[in-house]
Amino acid sequence: MGKKFTAKTADKYVLYQRAVQSAEQDADFLFDTYYDIRGKKAKHFREDFCGTCLLSAHWVSLDNNCTAESYDIDPEPLRWGLKNNLKPLGSVAKRVTQYQEDARNPSRQAPDVRCAQNFSYWIFKTRLEMLEYFKGVYNDLNDDGIFICDLHGGPESIQEMEEETEQDDGSFTYVWDQDSINPITGEAKLHIHFRFPDGSEMQDAFTYDWRLWGLPELREILQEAGFASVDCYWEGTDEDGESGDGIFTKTEEGEACLSYVAYLVACK
Ligand SMILES: C[S@@+](CC[C@H](N)C(=O)[O-])C[C@H]1O[C@@H](n2cnc3c(N)ncnc32)[C@H](O)[C@@H]1O
Repeated sequence: MGKKFTAKTADKYVLYQRAVQSAEQDADFLFDTYYDIRGKKAKHFREDFCGTCLLSAHWVSLDNNCTAESYDIDPEPLRWGLKNNLKPLGSVAKRVTQYQEDARNPSRQAPDVRCAQNFSYWIFKTRLEMLEYFKGVYNDLNDDGIFICDLHGGPESIQEMEEETEQDDGSFTYVWDQDSINPITGEAKLHIHFRFPDGSEMQDAFTYDWRLWGLPELREILQEAGFASVDCYWEGTDEDGESGDGIFTKTEEGEACLSYVAYLVACK
């Protein structure tokens, strides 16, 4: 049994990182995908909508030449990340620079790999806004840079519903709440709640006001922004054929499952 969490004592960023993020796996995926495409190691990374910079912290730990710029408009997760994710890295942390800025601002150094994770770029609600963001990313990348963003879809992703996931050690339950969805505009109000074994609940620990985007349309907007290739990396399934195995490979054929997460990899 892990540490006993309650709504009063738990830190929402600890819970978020444990329940939502797989930063070590994600950093490997970004680094390896660049290597597979370009035949060399990526060095400079940019994390948009970085929150607590957990992914940047893992990126700079991959290789001595790895550096990162991390962008978020909210000072709170940046401060939390500096203390809890970067400081513990010691001198390695010097290779990460945080910027409390809009993700549309240009980088200080052209990134080899730039990413937007956990669907955060869905704050852009119109095609024009999304196109402007992607064009900015295209112009910002190194000559052989790549941009990677994740997305989710499937019929369950457009329903008003709650999904509960209990941690393996029973220490808390993560709740993804698709609270209200407007099928006309695609706009969605979404929340994360955390429920605890003592019956307490941290309600609306995080709230998002997004537009739900489809894979083919995002791919077309990336192409329109100028990217030479935009490929989908689709998740494989476990031996039971039921759940995802965390391994994403390039393909043109996906399975029409109820819910999926995929990556788009856009190359200059
Ligand atoms: C869903 S969290 C993502 C956290 C983390 N990157 C992850 O992958 O789990 C979204 C983050 O985007 C930030 N954000 C929202 N609008 C932004 C903007 N225009 N520019 C930069 N950051 C923004 C929020 O402050 C929040 O920390």
